[in-house]
Amino acid sequence: MQTVLITGCSSGFGLETAHFFLDRGWAVVATMRQPGPDALPPSDRLRLLALDVTDPVSIDQAVTAAGPIDVLVNNAGIGWLNALEGTPMAAARELFETNTLGTIAMTQSVLPQMRERRAGVIVNVSSSVTLSALPLLSVYTASKAAVNAFTESLELELEPFGIRARLVLPGRAPDTSFGANARARMTDGFPDAYGELVQRVFAKWQEPGPVTHSSDVTEAVWRAATDPSCPMRLPAGADAIAAAR
Ligand SMILES: NC(=O)c1ccc[n+]([C@@H]2O[C@H](COP(=O)([O-])OP(=O)(O)OC[C@H]3O[C@@H](n4cnc5c(N)ncnc54)[C@H](OP(=O)(O)O)[C@@H]3O)[C@@H](O)[C@H]2O)c1
Repeated sequence: MQTVLITGCSSGFGLETAHFFLDRGWAVVATMRQPGPDALPPSDRLRLLALDVTDPVSIDQAVTAAGPIDVLVNNAGIGWLNALEGTPMAAARELFETNTLGTIAMTQSVLPQMRERRAGVIVNVSSSVTLSALPLLSVYTASKAAVNAFTESLELELEPFGIRARLVLPGRAPDTSFGANARARMTDGFPDAYGELVQRVFAKWQEPGPVTHSSDVTEAVWRAATDPSCPMRLPAGADAIAAAR
């Protein structure tokens, strides 16, 4: 039986991905910062582990407890929407700590066992904003563009060991808690000088158009994990596929 470890399973894409792999008979190590007993329906193929991807001790404990892992899905991430002038450096550091360095640290932690077995797949959840730039997302986009560059270089150094690295690039998914979680961190509002731009950005999001659903992302993660011919960058969602064209 194959085992997948997924980060950020408390909600959104991570939670749906855990369900998806469980439904297909995999052993699932679903990790989250604060695991609750009701996070996922009980299964003898499911383990819930506490994991904060910004905490080296937490990473070490979770990866040790998980044991052999065939696929790592680096999904945990946080958002931020503001002009650069409205982005405190503490917020920029938090984005990179979670989205970029969290992904790097988790990957580094599982690689020795994958290299010894000469098998494994790393799936990194990035974003379609790295394909088509949008305003007010400069720092978030930078944190994910770094994940893209990291993954593409890593793939070259891991290929001799039979380990694959792939990117899933979701588009905008209003049905997850991502926006609300980001808003909770953005307590200081937007700088006055950017008010008009902010209004334009929000108005654009109200227009009907293609968006991404969690199912698009879970299917893309599944393909990245199981199909060796999957391209390096896999857009997930109608808007992401349009951005990639
Ligand atoms: N939704 C979108 O529009 C969208 C678009 C493109 C890409 N993405 C990316 O997709 C991924 C999942 O997003 P989502 O839409 O599913 O959002 P979500 O519902 O907010 O889920 C994010 C998950 O990341 C976890 N997380 C945050 N910081 C963490 C940390 N330090 N350690 C471990 N876990 C942490 C959260 O856990 P807690 O409950 O502990 O906070 C939560 O489980 C993210 O990487 C995001 O950047 C999302």
